[in-house]
Amino acid sequence: MLPATASGASRLWAVIPAAGVGERMQAQLPKQYLPLGEHCVLDLTLARLLSVPSLAGVLVSLAAEDPWWEKCEHARHPKVSVVTGGPTRAASVLAALDALRERAGADDWVLVHDAARPCVTKSSIEQLLQAASGGDGAILARPLTDTIKQVRDDAIADTLDRRQLWGAQTPQLFPLFALHDWLAAGLKAGVDITDEASAAEYAGKQPRVVMGRGDNIKITHPQDLLLAEAILAWQAQEDDA
Ligand code: CTP
Ligand code: MG
Repeated sequence: MLPATASGASRLWAVIPAAGVGERMQAQLPKQYLPLGEHCVLDLTLARLLSVPSLAGVLVSLAAEDPWWEKCEHARHPKVSVVTGGPTRAASVLAALDALRERAGADDWVLVHDAARPCVTKSSIEQLLQAASGGDGAILARPLTDTIKQVRDDAIADTLDRRQLWGAQTPQLFPLFALHDWLAAGLKAGVDITDEASAAEYAGKQPRVVMGRGDNIKITHPQDLLLAEAILAWQAQEDDA
């Protein structure tokens, strides 16, 4: 579980960046609002996070003038609040952390999870929480399975050693105040921060990797919606999903 603190009062929060436009999805709506069975993607994602009983609250980063959020099933959930995000994912996460700093304590932790990953399982989140120790944080990730080519000008320049390469997933778990400062510093320095771990690495930290599941997909392209639907149906038959 989360590291014990002097006060023993460490709480767990979640941030869901949901301010993207979903360009690669080529849909009429941002992908987090597309229907997946009976619910929209963002509601399914929120339900998975809220299944963790120790969660103190969730902050969702939304695009400015987002007309869809109000129709979500979780819009009035007592543990859920919203904030306006920014032009990049990192800026959207930082905006949420800025708001959370008003409510959180110095020993609190935060799970950051993409709105576009509705298939994350409660057991994976619990494994991540178990792995948190020290202050460097931890993320769900998977070793890559394809042979990885470095490509320049549409031609192969090299084959990389796959044994050292993992694909980063979310949730990513960090001490809340530290993550705020690492993200702010990375953004200020113009570093390309595509996940929270990148900000931690820029600050000299070494977040741990926790083996995630292959079905924790990020809905990115149109075909991913069908895949997510199949995964959710299959997980419904499973015990540990
Ligand atoms: N996100 C965000 N703020 C941004 C950009 C992205 O909160 N300015 C969120 C997205 O809503 C998504 C998550 O970050 O939940 C992961 O980003 P990605 O999968 O790249 O989503 P989009 O940026 O919306 O998609 P695309 O890159 O295809 O436009
Ligand atoms: Mg994007």
